[in-house]
Amino acid sequence: MAAFGGFRQAVGRCVIERLRPDHRAPLLKLEALAQSGASGQQLAEALADDQTWVLGDWQGDVLAGYAVIAQLPFDAELQAIGVRPECQGQGRARRLLGEVITLATHWQAERLLLEVRASNLRAIALYRQAGFQEDGRRKGYYPAADGATGREDALLMSRALA
Ligand SMILES: CC(C)(COP(=O)(O)OP(=O)(O)OC[C@H]1O[C@@H](n2cnc3c(N)ncnc32)[C@H](O)[C@@H]1OP(=O)(O)O)[C@@H](O)C(=O)NCCC(=O)NCCS
Repeated sequence: MAAFGGFRQAVGRCVIERLRPDHRAPLLKLEALAQSGASGQQLAEALADDQTWVLGDWQGDVLAGYAVIAQLPFDAELQAIGVRPECQGQGRARRLLGEVITLATHWQAERLLLEVRASNLRAIALYRQAGFQEDGRRKGYYPAADGATGREDALLMSRALA
């Protein structure tokens, strides 16, 4: 798993693999649909960074989902996860998150960390189901979603790794 591009898991027609810089165009297209909040620049940097893995979930030649995970000194951080709207509700994020946890465990990270908008109930349910607990809040961390005025809290969540 440690070699660049050496990670690949196939389940039926679905394949999860590490994306490379030349996957930038399908990744940006997917994020424009999924709207997880990652910018084009953040995704381009993640694809090019040795310490950051972007896992892609392919349905045939369509990129249906992705997750970004970064290696920190002691922990790992889930920086983004998103699934194409027409592919949601099929267990793809759960499967991607399972691979993220496997990867972070392989890195010997002590914990997997993330932050999420307090209003993102789907994502929070996904994380809780995967064993994340809420550690705290950053008050007013995000601009309000969907062009609304004001600010929104970030929930800080973590999951201990074996
Ligand atoms: C959050 C998101 C990644 C879930 O992807 P998905 O592939 O639809 O999720 P899955 O089908 O794997 O569902 C796994 C779990 O997530 C939660 N979940 C998913 N969709 C949900 C919904 N509409 N309502 C409530 N919980 C939901 C549930 O806990 C679900 O488990 P269950 O099916 O046993 O109830 C997807 O909705 C998405 O891309 N949202 C936009 C981007 C985003 O918000 N990303 C997270 C912030 S970075």
